Amino acid sequence: MKQKKRDSWGSRLGIIMAVAGSAIGLGNFLRFPAKAASNGGGAFMIPYFIALFLLGIPLMWIEWTLGRYGGGFEHGTAPGIFHSIWQKNRFIKYFGIIGIFGPMVIFIYYSYIESWTLAYSVFSAMGKYAGLADQASMQSFLRAFQGVEHNQYFNGPLVAYLFFLVTFVLNIWVIYYGIRGGIEKLCKFAMPLLFICGIVLMARVLTLGAPDLSKPSWNILNGFGFLWNPDFSALRSAKVWLEAAGQIFFTLSVGIGVILTYASYLSKGDDVVLSGLTAASTNETAEVILGASIIIPAAFVFFGPLDIQAIAKSGVFNLGFVTTPLILNKLPFAQIFGFLWFFLLFLAGITSSVSLSQPAVAFLEDEFDISRKKAVLIFGIAAFVLCQPVIFFLKNGVVDELDFWGGTFFLVLFATIETVLFAWVFGMEKAWDEIHKGADMRVPRVYKFIIKYITPLFLFFILGMWLWQEWLPIIFMKNVAMENRVYILGTRIVLLGIFLTLGILVKIAWKRKRERQERMR
Ligand code: ALA
Repeated sequence: MKQKKRDSWGSRLGIIMAVAGSAIGLGNFLRFPAKAASNGGGAFMIPYFIALFLLGIPLMWIEWTLGRYGGGFEHGTAPGIFHSIWQKNRFIKYFGIIGIFGPMVIFIYYSYIESWTLAYSVFSAMGKYAGLADQASMQSFLRAFQGVEHNQYFNGPLVAYLFFLVTFVLNIWVIYYGIRGGIEKLCKFAMPLLFICGIVLMARVLTLGAPDLSKPSWNILNGFGFLWNPDFSALRSAKVWLEAAGQIFFTLSVGIGVILTYASYLSKGDDVVLSGLTAASTNETAEVILGASIIIPAAFVFFGPLDIQAIAKSGVFNLGFVTTPLILNKLPFAQIFGFLWFFLLFLAGITSSVSLSQPAVAFLEDEFDISRKKAVLIFGIAAFVLCQPVIFFLKNGVVDELDFWGGTFFLVLFATIETVLFAWVFGMEKAWDEIHKGADMRVPRVYKFIIKYITPLFLFFILGMWLWQEWLPIIFMKNVAMENRVYILGTRIVLLGIFLTLGILVKIAWKRKRERQERMR
């Protein structure tokens, strides 16, 4: 018999804020501008919106519904939820491992990057990089902070490590207090604050005008035009489609496993249709209104239409931690705006990272029937150990490797499995009824067709394209520098180790359950 009652949400607003908090993250403010700018701005937005309506929104409803359904059987993670859907299949629970593995892998690098945002908000407020005015010196500052380079700014990664410890402890502290007492409380306070910071920054960017009088076309209107003038020719590029779909997954936190877990703490009759839609819309507002109105237009105004592409291609970290502080440094009250920018990123980061840690904690609590305190302790120790290679081998490409497997490939694979299970194994008629239990609005009927045919076909297409275009070069590390191959191989071995450990844990948990049931007979 279960000894304890599962946690639950305190209010409907609470879960909407928490899911929106999970969705709105570094992806909205860093990954999105980088993807949009490097795919030609207006070329990106059409596939982006198509992916939102055909993948993002349907998956949001699927995950809310599956999560609530699984919660009814006291399962908060994919192994148990998949098993409840397809009880006759002995293997399906092992596919569910991805829904714990993915978020845990993302958490490992995400929490470290989140700690940079906390560090940089302190640096901005203190004016620590206020005198830096060009890309090269701002880059050196970042590299020294990361411990990748030794120079006058920092002497090794000690400062970065201290900020990592603070961020890590904050995360563990929030999840220690649970769903209602930790995550919900954090999100209810952090989300409004995040929007305030974002609106202030957006207002500042909107009033930039054309600061360089010798280049009148480098103005804010053209900055917005760069992103919003559609370029239909992009629809012919497979890469743009893949990038757009990948961004939709990452930004909405779908295909990861966290929404399944959050929704498992709902009650049977709680609405999922309107709540899921509200959370997704809040995320999209943060991404396409705030996320798209800060870095890209400002970078356009200060660096022009050509350099913006090069800047975007220089990577997400460069955009967030080099270009943006440089731009803000050019404005009056630079320290305040710099602080607002990095604090906004920190709030966005922490409300996402706590959601990434919850599936592993919920798995231990639900399937091994242990207390939250113990589950958080086990998760904390494991995650802490796994974060170390990210910190110390950053320059060897460990983060990119983790982001590819945890934050890209497995997301699409997991979403495909979920959709097929939901629409084809559970069955679309039953699924449609399940979605609408307690619903405050009806899902437009066309989505019955979309969820059954279009979403899975779209997913298979993306997976197929990936396998076709990238499988071999990725497996054989074709694009990895020779000196980094051993680190990438090491990362893959660790990932395999995490996966196998989770597999063994699932096996043990189910065996113990079976034995318990037999004893009770
Ligand atoms: N959805 C989260 C983000 O956008 C993971 O950062």
